[in-house]
Amino acid sequence: MKTIVITGSTRGLGRGLAEALLARGCNVVVGGRREADTARIAAELGAASDPARVLGVACDVTVPSQVQGLWDAAVARFGRVDVWINNAGIAAPRHPIWEQSGEEARAVIDINLIGTLNGAQTALRGMLAQGGGQIFNVEGYGSNGMMTTGMSAYGSSKSAVTYLTRSLAIETKRHPGPGPGDQPGHAGHRAAPPRL
Ligand SMILES: NC(=O)c1ccc[n+]([C@@H]2O[C@H](COP(=O)([O-])OP(=O)(O)OC[C@H]3O[C@@H](n4cnc5c(N)ncnc54)[C@H](OP(=O)(O)O)[C@@H]3O)[C@@H](O)[C@H]2O)c1
Repeated sequence: MKTIVITGSTRGLGRGLAEALLARGCNVVVGGRREADTARIAAELGAASDPARVLGVACDVTVPSQVQGLWDAAVARFGRVDVWINNAGIAAPRHPIWEQSGEEARAVIDINLIGTLNGAQTALRGMLAQGGGQIFNVEGYGSNGMMTTGMSAYGSSKSAVTYLTRSLAIETKRHPGPGPGDQPGHAGHRAAPPRL
């Protein structure tokens, strides 16, 4: 039975992924920034599937210590993490860049890019120690180079996420792992897009 961590899974795509993976028999670790929302979503998902296969852990992906706490809680409950999905992300309101506040732009970069980087670093360290795993990064508008007004910060963040994903694949491929198909190098390849 695979254990899958999905960051930013209190609603939207992350929650949908959790429901689909639970239906396929996986253990799923879900959460968002707030304890109360995380506990409520975990209870709802557990009630609709199997409470023993759902763990809720509140985690702000911009805070490395909280991301490490998410990994640690998942391993404490299920023994290992087979798949880590960096899904947490936000889109700022679609204003022209000169009308966007510095805080809005910074939040987009912090959550979408730095949050993904924090997740990848934490998961890679843990997966190297446990001997394998897979990481998926959720891309978005800008990942394929498309541009339009009001999307400069978001598109920059997702374009960078795509670079990061490809870079992770190269970095992990070079790492001498335990064997084909179950080494972090393989995980790196799997980090290459599903494009969204
Ligand atoms: N929706 C689309 O059309 C679309 C298209 C392409 C790509 N995407 C990408 O898909 C992913 C999910 O998008 P969505 O539309 O499902 O978004 P959403 O419905 O707004 O959900 C975003 C999720 O991320 C969480 N989150 C936000 N900031 C966080 C943080 N700092 N730490 C941890 N969790 C955080 C939210 O939880 P809390 O608020 O509870 O913390 C929520 O669970 C994002 O990466 C997005 O860029 C979406």
